Amino acid sequence: MTGLGKLLILAVSLSGLCAGAASAGEDASGLNATGQWSQINTGSAPTPPMGWNSWNAFGVAITEAKVLGSAQVIHDRGLQERGYLYINLDDGWWLKRRTSDGRMQVRVNLFPSAATGGPDGSSLRPFTDRLHQMGFKAGIYSDIGFNACSQAWSPDNPNLPEGSQAEREVGLMGHARQDISLYFKDWNFDYIKVDACGLSAYRPGNPMVANGHFRQFGPIIADAQVNRSDIGAVKALYSDVRDALRAVRPQGDFVLSLCNWGSANVRAWGKGVGSMWRTSNDIDPSWGRMLHNFDTVATRELYAGPGHWNDPDMLEIGNGVFDADHLVEARTHMSLWAIEASPLIIGTDLTRAPQSIIDILGAPEVVAVSQDRAGHQGVIAYADSEREIIVKSLSGTGEKAVVLLNRTAERTSLVLTPAHLKLAGDKPIALRDLWAQKDLGALHGLKAFDLGPHEAMLLKASGAPVLADGLYLSEAPAWINVAVDGVRVPEPDPIIHRMMDPYHLSTTSNGNHPVYAGWGGPRADATPYDQGLAIAGSPYRYGLGALANSRLQVKADGGFSQFAAKVGVDDSSRGKTAAVRFELYGDGRLLASSKPKRFGEAAQDLSVSITGVKVLELVARQLADSDGNMVVSWAEARLTK
Ligand code: GAL
Repeated sequence: MTGLGKLLILAVSLSGLCAGAASAGEDASGLNATGQWSQINTGSAPTPPMGWNSWNAFGVAITEAKVLGSAQVIHDRGLQERGYLYINLDDGWWLKRRTSDGRMQVRVNLFPSAATGGPDGSSLRPFTDRLHQMGFKAGIYSDIGFNACSQAWSPDNPNLPEGSQAEREVGLMGHARQDISLYFKDWNFDYIKVDACGLSAYRPGNPMVANGHFRQFGPIIADAQVNRSDIGAVKALYSDVRDALRAVRPQGDFVLSLCNWGSANVRAWGKGVGSMWRTSNDIDPSWGRMLHNFDTVATRELYAGPGHWNDPDMLEIGNGVFDADHLVEARTHMSLWAIEASPLIIGTDLTRAPQSIIDILGAPEVVAVSQDRAGHQGVIAYADSEREIIVKSLSGTGEKAVVLLNRTAERTSLVLTPAHLKLAGDKPIALRDLWAQKDLGALHGLKAFDLGPHEAMLLKASGAPVLADGLYLSEAPAWINVAVDGVRVPEPDPIIHRMMDPYHLSTTSNGNHPVYAGWGGPRADATPYDQGLAIAGSPYRYGLGALANSRLQVKADGGFSQFAAKVGVDDSSRGKTAAVRFELYGDGRLLASSKPKRFGEAAQDLSVSITGVKVLELVARQLADSDGNMVVSWAEARLTK
């Protein structure tokens, strides 16, 4: 080795030593501020995607005529104008993968326009051309594994992929680049939903695997047990699809919808891979299931924002207990998806939908809440198991949308106050009923509302912000990026409503247990374990709660001059022994840090000038091992001008 080589090695190892000595373990934990906004969106979904999908309406009994029938209704009856843009195929469109070159073939008996013949055999290009001519964008469906969901779950369906084992492998596994290029370049699709049965269903015990009908894979997703899923492998496979899409559509004009049902901790990493990601198992048209799916997004407010959305699954409006005989429930379902900034993908046969259902899907002031360009998800302002108040900041100053929800089958009442809305109580607050499109008069101090069974009201409140010259961070969840959540071991979230499982109706098992990881993730106006924020006996209504060893980024965009918060170990902390230091960075520079804070110690004021700062980083650094997870509060965290 040359002298220069030796010198270089010495220099490199010394610099490594210095970094290690300066901050033991900091880099490995991801806690060091980067100064760079690290939420990189996938594709283009500046507001929650809106459209229609075949699955909830038709299952695998899908045909071109049925899809175009609903598209025509969206076009003709005002829904396209409201923003319903994507017309998406779900499972059932494929015939087989051609073994000579791997090119996917379309089931042309169901999609006649795909019978193009020639060397390609078949093509969905005429179908997407038709949709594009109608002013729509087109969506397709695939699976991340070798095989798809219908092949595992609908074995008697006559329209399943045909041929040899290899021909029946219609999923993206081993063909991601080829298929994505075919779908997005040749066929010109704009949106893809990528399911995950290929990673979970083709397990050794499956009889169709045992008899050689399907190739065995994994499983690497254990749907109900996050700690048995190979989270890294699932994420890597979906990331390959994202990269294939970026290669074919470098302008980012696509939507990638991840459909692994909230499994494998996707509720934490989906924002870096998909434009949207399912947070739960499949919805069905029942009240309990709708609540279940809703709950899986309701506590994930800090994970969504323009370009990346929590997806509680497609709408069931028009179906089952959300049909024209249940307009209260249908409106509630719509209100909840709108307040949560969830994708609005219609899942009913619109050719049979009465006007009352079309009116709900197209309600202009409701859709406007969903599509508000600020992209904030609703934040829970009040909750018990029966009633909730959820508030979504809108882009206009002092404008909030609020849902008042009755989860029960009994009448109930609740009281709304300016504090729920984070609006000044001593100034007028105008309320408007967005379903009735009527002003309700002013909120003076408080207002009581009666709600019928399963009823939700969706209101807009306009007033003066409670902070005259700025906002609480919990009012702006879309400005927050969870760079590091501090979760050491994924734990299932126990507060999600556990519905009667439609796939296992009998009670012969020992019941329905929590399954979705995410418990312990940071929250707005709550701790990561859903307690109220409190430090040394003082409760705080507003703020951010997190685990120690977390790093939260805030997009301040140079618009504020001051950051302030009261910081400390939360009174609900599970760990009680370790000290935690709170550090505030602006564009990568340390601006302020707290004393080491211990359980039970009074909150410390952290107030610092941030003029010109674009990216703030809130780091809670745990200074020693602890006896349990340390819970910290950035109480009353706020930005002012
Ligand atoms: C499920 C998915 C549904 C639908 C179905 C098709 O895994 O969650 O939305 O796509 O597969 O078989």
